[in-house]
Amino acid sequence: MCSSFPISTALFFLFIAFSLPSVLSLTTHEQWKKQQSANDVHPNDMDPAEAETLFKIMETMSSDRNWKVSNPNPCEPGSSWPGIECKLGQDNRLYVSRLDFGTPPNPTCKATATFPSEIFHLLYLQSVFFFRCFTHTKTNISIPPRRISTSLQQLSLRSNPALVGPIPPQISSLNSLQILTLSQNHLTGKIPKEILSLTSLVHLDLSYNFLSGTIPDQLGSLKNLEGLDLSYNSFTGQIPDTIGQLGLLQKLDLSSNLLTGGIPDSIGNLSFLAFMALSNNRLKGKFPKGLAKLQNLQYFIMDDNPMFVSLPVELGSLVKLQELRLSNSGYTGAIPQSFSQLLNLSTLAMQNNRLTGEIPVGLSGLSHIYHLNLSRNLLAGVVPFNSQFLKRLGRNLDLSGNPGLCLDKSVVCNGVKIGVSVCRSNGNGSLVQPLRDEAPCQLSKSISLLGVLCLWALYGILF
Ligand SMILES: *[C@@H]1O[C@H](CO)[C@@H](O)[C@H](O)[C@H]1NC(C)=O
Ligand SMILES: *[C@@H]1O[C@H](CO)[C@@H](O)[C@H](O)[C@H]1NC(C)=O
Ligand SMILES: *[C@@H]1O[C@H](CO)[C@@H](O)[C@H](O)[C@H]1NC(C)=O
Ligand SMILES: *[C@@H]1O[C@H](CO)[C@@H](O)[C@H](O)[C@H]1NC(C)=O
Ligand SMILES: *[C@@H]1O[C@H](CO)[C@@H](O)[C@H](O)[C@H]1NC(C)=O
Repeated sequence: MCSSFPISTALFFLFIAFSLPSVLSLTTHEQWKKQQSANDVHPNDMDPAEAETLFKIMETMSSDRNWKVSNPNPCEPGSSWPGIECKLGQDNRLYVSRLDFGTPPNPTCKATATFPSEIFHLLYLQSVFFFRCFTHTKTNISIPPRRISTSLQQLSLRSNPALVGPIPPQISSLNSLQILTLSQNHLTGKIPKEILSLTSLVHLDLSYNFLSGTIPDQLGSLKNLEGLDLSYNSFTGQIPDTIGQLGLLQKLDLSSNLLTGGIPDSIGNLSFLAFMALSNNRLKGKFPKGLAKLQNLQYFIMDDNPMFVSLPVELGSLVKLQELRLSNSGYTGAIPQSFSQLLNLSTLAMQNNRLTGEIPVGLSGLSHIYHLNLSRNLLAGVVPFNSQFLKRLGRNLDLSGNPGLCLDKSVVCNGVKIGVSVCRSNGNGSLVQPLRDEAPCQLSKSISLLGVLCLWALYGILF
């Protein structure tokens, strides 16, 4: 009895002694310490050349503190700089794996910060984020010709108004890049063909720059691309046919450029596409064959293009659509009945076109819709929506500027203004002709008249 206690205690401590190292090894820090002691390397050891390069980068970028003095061991766990992560290299020394500047609590960038091309010499660097770093001193993206680290997977240079010049062709040497974000800078010139050899790219975002030229045909070689954003630049020419080879593409944004021609038929190949924005270009002509194959499309944003065709029935088969924007594009003909199948639609914007005919009755069955703008078209007939529908959409329903539309008397008095007059009744059902000079809601008018009378009476009683 008495002897069993020390034995179980000893077993307990034995258990602890054996399990502790494995528990500790869960944290990379301890694992690293263990490896350090095993190799008899001092825990703070960074490759000296690597440390020197890092200090140089810090000096170029930030004046938050004197990094060399305040953080002599920049990779040391616990004392590492914010915005900097390190990892153990093959030689058991520490190397920089991540640099993140410009967003708190990371280092801020000084006004004279320029692009530190030394980052490409950090052999284990995997990700770089420079946000609002180059704001005053003009600088360009320069990539040294030799001794380039090829471990970089993510390069994100965003919102740097003083980052000017072209995207250098040497970018092709960063052959592990998966995410390249160069959005909201002041980059000029063409897309270098070399960028299209970066076949590991999953996301390419060059939006909000001053890039020009055509979208290269070689785009099709970026087979792993899931997101492509070239919006808000000055790209000209056609959308290349090869876009249909980007079989994994989920997001495509080419809006606000100077693109011409039609949407290529090959786009029907993009079966994973969920977001497509082509607004504000000079696209025209027929919709692509195979449009109906975009069965994952949720957002189709294509305002402001000189299309001047009729709307394809196939659009109605894209049942996952939540937002469909086709305003200001010269569309003619009727709104296809098939749009009534878009049961997930929350926004339908087709204002400023030349659409004719009646509003399809089926649109009243779109139970998720909360924004419907059909204003400034040539639609005619009786508005097919009941008062419940009008109430639900409220101010987000706009049918104004369609002289041929009218609203049935039974649905008018709900206090909602949709910009349509009441139909003239001729004792024979509704006549499809608006009464322009008649107020849209007789009842609300008489109520407000009553209100004025009441106020006036009240005024008289009080004074
Ligand atoms: C980038 O800037 C460096 C240094 O100011 C300059 O020497 C180089 O010509 C520039 N490169 C381009 C392509 O503008
Ligand atoms: C459609 O995708 C397949 C497979 O990704 C590709 O081989 C083919 O060339 C593409 N077709 C078009 C028209 O782009
Ligand atoms: C409609 O949207 C909901 C939620 O956004 C989603 O769960 C559902 O699958 C969608 N329906 C269709 C037909 O895509
Ligand atoms: C509908 O479109 C017109 C024309 O672009 C615009 O003026 C109006 O504000 C829009 N209405 C709604 C409710 O969005
Ligand atoms: C009533 O409707 C019928 C058919 O729509 C039409 O022929 C007739 O002229 C209408 N009557 C009046 C009084 O408008």
